[in-house]
Amino acid sequence: MFRLPVLASVFLLAWYINAVAAFNFELACSSIASQAASIDNTTIFFADIVPAGTSLTFPDQDPSCGGPGSSQTVLVDMCRVALNVSTSERSGITMEAWLPRNWTGRFLSTGNGGLDGCLQYVDLAYTTAQGFATVGANNGHNGTGGSLFFDNSDVLADFVFRSLHTNVVVGKEITEMFYGKPHKTSYYLGCSTGGREGFKIVQDFPDDFDGVVAGSPAINWNNLMSWSARFHNILGNATSPTFVTADEWLGLIHDNILQQCDEIDGVADGIIEDPNLCDYQPEELICTSARNTSGCLTPLKAAVVREVFSPMYDTHGNLMYPRQQPGSENAALVNLIYSSNVFPFSQDWFHFVVFNPPFNINTLDLNDYQIAEDLNPFNVATFNGDLSSFQSRGGKVITYHGQADMLISPADTEFYYQHVSSTMGLPPSKLDDFLRFFRISGMSHCATGPGAWQIGQSLAGASGNLTAETLDPDRNVLSAVVRWLEEGIAPETILGTKYVNDSASLGVELSRRHCRYPTRNVYDRTGDSNLPDSWSCK
Ligand SMILES: *[C@@H]1O[C@H](CO)[C@@H](O)[C@H](O)[C@H]1NC(C)=O
Ligand SMILES: *[C@@H]1O[C@H](CO)[C@@H](O)[C@H](O)[C@H]1NC(C)=O
Ligand SMILES: *[C@@H]1O[C@H](CO)[C@@H](O)[C@H](O)[C@H]1NC(C)=O
Ligand SMILES: *[C@@H]1O[C@H](CO)[C@@H](O)[C@H](O)[C@H]1NC(C)=O
Ligand SMILES: *[C@@H]1O[C@H](CO)[C@@H](O)[C@H](O)[C@H]1NC(C)=O
Ligand SMILES: *[C@@H]1O[C@H](CO)[C@@H](O)[C@H](O)[C@H]1NC(C)=O
Ligand SMILES: *[C@@H]1O[C@H](CO)[C@@H](O)[C@H](O)[C@H]1NC(C)=O
Ligand SMILES: *[C@@H]1O[C@H](CO)[C@@H](O)[C@H](O)[C@H]1NC(C)=O
Repeated sequence: MFRLPVLASVFLLAWYINAVAAFNFELACSSIASQAASIDNTTIFFADIVPAGTSLTFPDQDPSCGGPGSSQTVLVDMCRVALNVSTSERSGITMEAWLPRNWTGRFLSTGNGGLDGCLQYVDLAYTTAQGFATVGANNGHNGTGGSLFFDNSDVLADFVFRSLHTNVVVGKEITEMFYGKPHKTSYYLGCSTGGREGFKIVQDFPDDFDGVVAGSPAINWNNLMSWSARFHNILGNATSPTFVTADEWLGLIHDNILQQCDEIDGVADGIIEDPNLCDYQPEELICTSARNTSGCLTPLKAAVVREVFSPMYDTHGNLMYPRQQPGSENAALVNLIYSSNVFPFSQDWFHFVVFNPPFNINTLDLNDYQIAEDLNPFNVATFNGDLSSFQSRGGKVITYHGQADMLISPADTEFYYQHVSSTMGLPPSKLDDFLRFFRISGMSHCATGPGAWQIGQSLAGASGNLTAETLDPDRNVLSAVVRWLEEGIAPETILGTKYVNDSASLGVELSRRHCRYPTRNVYDRTGDSNLPDSWSCK
């Protein structure tokens, strides 16, 4: 009988084991639909191989989410699995799993925004391109509105926590079926409502994720809804003598805020490094003989501006929601939030969750805000200060908040941080073991602004260009949480970048190492303020 030399047979055996174990991407994608069909309560719509460079369109998407015309370029080869999962007899989620050919062994879930209802395809593309097996869901309803919450607490439960949790549980199963082995580590990336969802899971489902990036979180949710409704209550309608126009906010008032507060940090650059230090006095703008009518405010309007920048207290004098930070005035958002109508998310929340649709939204007052807070469906407040379950299993959270965020006050994230600190009895030096909060000066809501706002929080926050530089854990919050969890190297600071006109091809305008709360970034008042080494955390 022919015999192979011993060494050769060992090689052959090794080759055979490898070949059997080798992951066959094409085969995995063609069989995942039938495999995943066995998961309880799911219906698989399709599983398709999508090559890198494909521009996906979303013909079935709700028009308010972007609609059939929207598209997303896929950056790496992946298998796209679309499915639904019922969550009760009268509710369910639509979700997708994007499974890259080149998998790192990491699992990640994306989140949502506002009251939606919309898969964030751009985040799926961003994280799949980094080798995460990524999932995203529609939060239990389609579209950006809240009408489907009305009279259906199951749809509401999906929005508050169940869509994200279900999508994680099912997504992990699909990931294991697809690659033939379970994920090694699991992550979350979201901002705004996505930031709230991240904290909700950390608070209530601490086993779901190992590492979480929760940006500009919409926590203290009920009071946030009231706070953003309250601007209309303060400002009145467009014909009211109390109404402050967008032009007044963006020109007169914003400029006056910068005059009073921009140089507190030592640099006149349009960035108020720490708005907590800005004690803005709008009375300076009250019309006098020296100030003519277009460049000044009536005493009534000055009082309105002061109220806009005041914290919101309940009838017992307890803080409901901290103040809007001065300097956050932003052309893209001013008509949305300082509007002659109630902020749209607040409208839908009060109409479809707190009260009934015929309710007159224009007459909200402190009692209504209290009713909303007391209702707190499924604890949507997301303000639980005890994170010990997540902490004790070794989880890590990075939260960040733009200091020029006009839609969600960054002071609310400080409020929560302090609440966690006092609830757990841990000073910041101890919270640093598992929870780090970075204040991003000059960043608006989740992105853009005059500051060094690109911190890898999204594809845009990485210039749409995934390179060793934009993925560097010193400057990318997602890479930072991965390194923290997997290598034990915690982020001391996060280096942010601002490109000229936000265009990488025009070069860097400034970069700054953002500090973790409660330290503050302090300029040395001698070096080039656009360079990070001229600042330090104190
Ligand atoms: C939501 O939209 C998806 C398509 O994106 C569709 O399959 C699903 O049926 C819709 N769900 C509801 C509740 O309308
Ligand atoms: C899931 O999709 C199937 C097929 O379109 C549909 O019959 C079912 O009602 C859907 N379930 C949910 C919860 O949307
Ligand atoms: C499937 O959905 C039903 C409600 O429709 C729920 O009671 C059951 O627990 C779900 N099964 C799983 C495994 O989640
Ligand atoms: C797969 O991803 C790793 C990083 O996770 C990278 O180093 C490697 O080049 C990638 N391989 C391919 C074939 O893209
Ligand atoms: C605007 O506000 C004024 C004063 O509060 C009120 O009289 C008027 O009815 C309001 N107009 C609209 C269109 O709501
Ligand atoms: C009035 O104020 C506006 C805006 O500051 C300025 O452009 C204009 O020149 C002033 N007019 C007079 C007569 O001072
Ligand atoms: C991406 O970054 C690389 C390295 O910095 C650069 O050479 C390239 O031009 C960038 N591409 C785009 C599209 O910005
Ligand atoms: C940046 O944008 C401004 C306003 O659109 C424009 O005036 C300026 O020329 C741009 N700068 C460069 C370097 O392109």
